[in-house]
Order: sequence, then structure tokens, then C-alpha cells
Amino acid sequence: MNEFINKTYSVVTYGCQMNVHESEKVRGILHTLGMHEIDDEHQADVVVFNTCCIREGAEDRAYNNIMALAKEKKQKDKIIVVCGCMPQQKNGKYDLSKSKAVDIVIGTHNINNLAEYLIKFKQTNKKIYDILDAPIKDMDVASAIRDDKINAYVNIIYGCDKFCTYCIVPYVRGREKSRAPSAIYNEVLDLVQNQGYKYITLLGQNVNSYGKDLEEKINFATLLENLCTIEGDFKIKFMTSHPMDFSQDIIKVMKKEDKIAKYLHLPVQSGSSKILKRMNRHYDRRQYLKSIRRVKHAIPQISLSTDIIVGFPGETQNDFNKTLSLLKKVKYDQVFAFMYSKRANTPAAMMEDQIDEKEKSKRLNKLLRMQKIIQLEQQKKYINKHYNCLIKQKNGVAVGITDGGKEIYIPNYKFINQNYFANVKIDGIRNHKLSGVIDEK
Ligand code: SAH
Ligand code: SF4
Ligand code: F3S
Repeated sequence: MNEFINKTYSVVTYGCQMNVHESEKVRGILHTLGMHEIDDEHQADVVVFNTCCIREGAEDRAYNNIMALAKEKKQKDKIIVVCGCMPQQKNGKYDLSKSKAVDIVIGTHNINNLAEYLIKFKQTNKKIYDILDAPIKDMDVASAIRDDKINAYVNIIYGCDKFCTYCIVPYVRGREKSRAPSAIYNEVLDLVQNQGYKYITLLGQNVNSYGKDLEEKINFATLLENLCTIEGDFKIKFMTSHPMDFSQDIIKVMKKEDKIAKYLHLPVQSGSSKILKRMNRHYDRRQYLKSIRRVKHAIPQISLSTDIIVGFPGETQNDFNKTLSLLKKVKYDQVFAFMYSKRANTPAAMMEDQIDEKEKSKRLNKLLRMQKIIQLEQQKKYINKHYNCLIKQKNGVAVGITDGGKEIYIPNYKFINQNYFANVKIDGIRNHKLSGVIDEK
């Protein structure tokens, strides 16, 4: 028996897919204590804030929400836990070590020990602040409770060794550590064959590094091939690929295997080779565009997305124009663009020629406006093409979801079944929305 049985909890998550998945593991841990989840963090007995610090805005949001909740603690014994990337940083903007508002503060390396921390807190009623430099328990111990019933996240590699000069991730997530291939295989097998998942999204800050630290001879391309031997009606996605080691092998497997979604998120960050060098990205504009050409050539129906940072220190108008011209060249289906945000103790924060916030915001808006036009123009290119889609019901109408996440309305479709893959021919655009018909076999 423990004191948490039948108590309620709520998890508030910020940040990337990896954090979303870690929160699913947190839920798994809290369930093993006999607790159940409620949506309303204001009512919950235990609230876990799983935080992000990739940009200053992410930190501000998390901090303000934590403090607001702490102020209105309704029940005396409500426990507030903060975990994840924000407390893991050294010299971050907010220091939670002294704050009385929060009860348990841990980082990214000890989330799997949350149950022990909670029990200890109940026994002693003393604030716990414990930030570790490396994991003490294997990240695999907690089994995730997933919200989404169609797409399941699966970790394949933790940490990052790349040290892009702007980025805090290597400091807060530690060194790259690949999961055992058998653990990944068994997890995917269970998700597909016992739980009916349609998409498996493999997660890592850089999935292409998979296997480099393992004794077994395996790399990301061979891992993908192994997973494609699993029987079932499902597809595999992955993120994120670093352009530096996005190899021909991976393109080959993507082309060959029907089970791999024809979607690629390949963050470029900047279109200027000078800036890419300052970012320590290990590729230049020409090499990046070569990878894009190769993928498009091998897989014509590929859907592409990217991340961009505008206003990196030293970015001139000319550098920025190169980013715009790269977007025009590649014609991504989706672009995630951010204003550069200084992160404590990263090399870029110490660089000269920091760009003024107003100028960053001007550049961001210009880029987003241009990308919107590109995406609208792109719509036309889909007409008369065939895409393999997941067929779903949405507000009573059938829609096909492409591998890149685009929705195609299928107006004259009689619903017999849903959540299966079928080829859809796109035949028109209505109100900026694509429409189509299911291919007859
Ligand atoms: N591992 C992934 C991305 C992780 S962070 C990769 O290498 O692509 C997600 C995105 O946040 C990055 O691609 C980058 O565009 C953005 N980002 C990271 N640090 C940032 C910073 N200091 N300021 C603004 N954007 C940043
Ligand atoms: Fe950050 Fe670069 Fe690692 Fe991505 S590859 S997490 S941007 S350091
Ligand atoms: Fe944020 Fe940490 Fe992910 S800083 S983007 S939650 S790895």
C-alpha cells in the first residue's frame, strides 16, 4: 500500500515529441502507484510539469504556468513536480532550487525514479531538488501510457553529440545512447500487432546516429529494414534526421519499403553556408541541396519539412535572402521557423553581431509569408497524383491523411471501415482543401 492509491494526477508537457513521449512514461509510472489521470491540473493531487528550454519563450511559458498554479494550490497537500530540460540546464533563466512553490525538482536523467521521489516526499514533506549528470536507471523501465491511438512514439536513441552552437539539447539531454535493437523491435511488434497502431514514429535528436555506440553492427538503415519485417498494416516515420549523415542507404530503404512513410523532416536551419558553419552544422548549402535532390529523385511523392532559425548571430540580409531562396528551391510542405534565442553557456550566445529582436521578428514574418504562398502554390502540384493515405472519418466525412499529414477530403465515400491505408487520387481543390477519390483496386 502507498499513500498515492486513488489519488489524481495531471501532466503538463512542453517541448518536442521526445518530451511528449517522456510524459507518456511519466503517466505509466504514476499508474503503477495506483493513481489516475484527470485533465484539470487545478484539481489534481499531483501535477507534473515536464518542461522545455529550447528557446527563452518555452522557459517563460513553463515558469509562468508553474508559478500561477503554485499560487492557487487549492488542496494543502497538492504536490507540484517540475522535471525535464528546464531544471537540467546550468545557469538557466529560472532557478527552482530555492523556490518554495514547487515540491520536487528533477531533470531529464531521473524521470524514471519519479515514484521513489514522490514516496520520499510524502514521508519527509521536505522539498526535493535533485539534478543528475547521467541516468541512474535505464530509460526503458517505464512503460508508456499513450494518448494517441493511431500514432505511437518509440525512442530509438537518447541524447545528442552534435553541439550545434545555438542549441541547449546536448547539455540537457547528455550523450547519444542507442536503445538495444531487440527492445525497439519488441516494442514496435507489440504496438502494431497487439495494440493496432497505424503509425510508429521513431524518435531521436538525430536518428541517423543510431547504432554508432552499440557493439552490435547495426545502423539506422538496417534498423529500419528490420522493423519493416514486422507484419501488419502500419507505417514507420522518424525524426529527426541530421542532414550531415543522412545517407544514400536511408534513401534506398525509404524507397524500397512500403512500410516507411514517404515523409522526411530534414532541418536545414539556414540557407547560407557561412551561417551553417557558424552553427557547426557540418554541411553547407550545396551538400544539403544535393541530399534534397537525391531524395526527390528517388521518391517523387516525398513530403518534405524543415526547421529554420532566423537572426542567428552574424546573419546579414544577404544570408537571410539565401534562406529565402533555399525555401523557394526546395518547396517544403511545412516549415517550422524560429527566431534565434540565446541559450546560456552555448557558443552562439557569446558570439558578436547578435541581431536585434525587431529585425529577427521582421525576418521571421517575411519568411512565413513567403512560405505560405509557396504552400498554396504547391497544392496544385498534387492534382491527379496518387498518394497512399490513412483513411479516417472526420466530422462524418471520409478523409485520407497523406504521409506528410495533408488531409484529402473524399466526399462520395461510403464508410465501411476506417483506419486503414489506401491509395487516393487527388482530383481537385475546394476552399484550399484537397479532395479526391479512393483508387479502385
Ligand atoms: N535535433 C533536431 C532538433 C532539435 S530542436 C535537429 O537537429 O534538427 C528543434 C529545433 O529548434 C531546431 O531544429 C532548431 O531549428 C530550433 N532551435 C534550437 N535551438 C534554438 C535556439 N537557440 N533558438 C532558436 N531556435 C532553436
Ligand atoms: Fe540541437 Fe544540433 Fe543536437 Fe539537433 S543536432 S539537438 S539542433 S545540437
Ligand atoms: Fe525542449 Fe528538451 Fe525537447 S529543450 S525541444 S524538450 S529536448
